[in-house]
Amino acid sequence: MAFPPSFLDDLNARNPIEDVVGQYVALTRRGSNYFGLCPFHNEKTASFSVAPDKGIYYCFGCHKGGGAVNFIMEVENLEYPDAVRFLAKRVGMEVPEDQEYRSAYRKQERLRNLCKEAARYFHEQLNSPAGQPGREYIAKRGLTRATVTKFGIGFAPDGWHGLLDTMTKKGYTKEELLDADLVIKSPKGNYYDKFRNRLMFPIIDIRGSIIGFGGRVMDDSKPKYLNTSETSIFNKRKNLFAMNFAKKSTAGRIILTEGYLDAIALYQYGFDCAVASLGTALTTEQAQLLGKYTGEVVLTYDNDAAGQNATRRAITILERADLKIKILRMQGAKDPDEFLKKFGPDKFRVLLDRSENQAEYQLLSLQNKYDLSFDDQKVAFVKEAASLISTFANAVEREVYGARAANAAGVTADTMKLEIDRAFRRRKAAERKKQERADLDVVGQLQPRERGLHYSNPSSAAAEEMLLAQLLKDPTLLPTVNLLPQQFSSPLLGKVFGLMLQLQERGRAIALGALSGDLTAEEMNHLTAVSRKKDVLVSETAIRDCAGKIRDEYEKSLGTDEAALLARQARLKAKKGYGG
Ligand code: UTP
Ligand code: MN
Repeated sequence: MAFPPSFLDDLNARNPIEDVVGQYVALTRRGSNYFGLCPFHNEKTASFSVAPDKGIYYCFGCHKGGGAVNFIMEVENLEYPDAVRFLAKRVGMEVPEDQEYRSAYRKQERLRNLCKEAARYFHEQLNSPAGQPGREYIAKRGLTRATVTKFGIGFAPDGWHGLLDTMTKKGYTKEELLDADLVIKSPKGNYYDKFRNRLMFPIIDIRGSIIGFGGRVMDDSKPKYLNTSETSIFNKRKNLFAMNFAKKSTAGRIILTEGYLDAIALYQYGFDCAVASLGTALTTEQAQLLGKYTGEVVLTYDNDAAGQNATRRAITILERADLKIKILRMQGAKDPDEFLKKFGPDKFRVLLDRSENQAEYQLLSLQNKYDLSFDDQKVAFVKEAASLISTFANAVEREVYGARAANAAGVTADTMKLEIDRAFRRRKAAERKKQERADLDVVGQLQPRERGLHYSNPSSAAAEEMLLAQLLKDPTLLPTVNLLPQQFSSPLLGKVFGLMLQLQERGRAIALGALSGDLTAEEMNHLTAVSRKKDVLVSETAIRDCAGKIRDEYEKSLGTDEAALLARQARLKAKKGYGG
């Protein structure tokens, strides 16, 4: 998506980074920079910085960074073009839309409207004579009228083209219906409805648009659910069922369930903060989405082996998003829907308030693994429990859970403590060794933190980073560098160098913020980290040294002829002032 460069420069100039960030984060001035609590991860001391002169923000804790547009993309959960529009609106600027984008956007708008119309159709069908089986099933599941309306539940009748006919009459094309994954095209080229004889659950994104559907059978036939597959408006990794409601909840936590019907039942029983994933294991993107709206997630996965596995996986993912995690265990019911029906919401609330933190959960899971009436199993349990408890960061936690484990195994608290201390020392020693190895492994250290941005030639990359860091500090030195982007060993750093040359050629300000449209969020984070390197002193000599190193490494990597040719081109370019 390309907006005119002059527009973007204007946009950045009229949206000073400290103003934009300042609307979300309380900033205090320190020297020429500002500091505040990072909005992207939980922290108590301010490691989030804003540098007005460079137009960038950077968090030393979670290593996110970029310009104003990146900030809005992250904080408002917007795609690049929408973040640009957002900032334009903020300062009352008109957005010159580019043709291609406008048509892609219009297409998606049509699909969103199509899904809305389809949901309306399904909902009407539910209330029509054809909807009888759907209504019966809804009654059997105990869903109230209010719930059905709230979630926009509908019914796809048992026919082949009810939806197809209705939507084409409304002016949507078969292609559009195919693009929204609402109809299927047979090998012979016939179109027919994808969802037939199913109860329909609209999937709604956080902005309230219907983007897809889950359709449940009303008996035991398979598959139980049919879901919209990936479309240009529906990504099941980035959305959560009922998140549009949960994000408005004041409960202070979000309950994560496995099934649509669990989230719906919870809502009906007064828990307005329940969401469900979309038929896949919890993803990193979903964890990040949760982190935008809450600090605590309660896991209520099914009480079977698959559910417990899913819980373990989800814990790892949620931990990485800095979320506080609790695990709710149910006895006598396999999932929240069944529990609520059997025991009622008050009992569920008790469970919710008593839900275990991770430490408890992990210890109990361990305990269940062993039969503690056998001595050899006791010994094994004590060992494993000690090693688990030794990982708890907090001394009180270590003591409390140590005593609990001791009690379970029938040993004294002192014995347990000895085991925990031993495990603690063992781990520390292992960590130290690992660190020593890492310190020796210079190559490993130089690698970017972001996965996917591996440096193939770390010693050249170090010079490339240093060169870019200096140029970002003082872009007036760019014309002194006689290098070509393809001489960089890192494709990313080379690309950035090329983009800087382009900016210069077009007379635009050379700043990180101006590159937002050309780099992924991951690339931007890494580059911001590079530009914030502490030990960067700008000087022409240092720049010459870096460039020399890059050239040397490049020539080493090549045969001689080609390298010489490129070097000559680079020198010519510098003389002519191309890019200068
Ligand atoms: P469940 O089988 O637990 O469904 O699958 P549920 O929503 O709780 O419904 P009931 O209460 O059993 O009737 C959990 C989730 O897994 C996905 C759906 O997102 C479902 O909500 N799933 C399940 C599928 O996508 N396809 C399937 O065939 C089954
Ligand atoms: Mn279920």
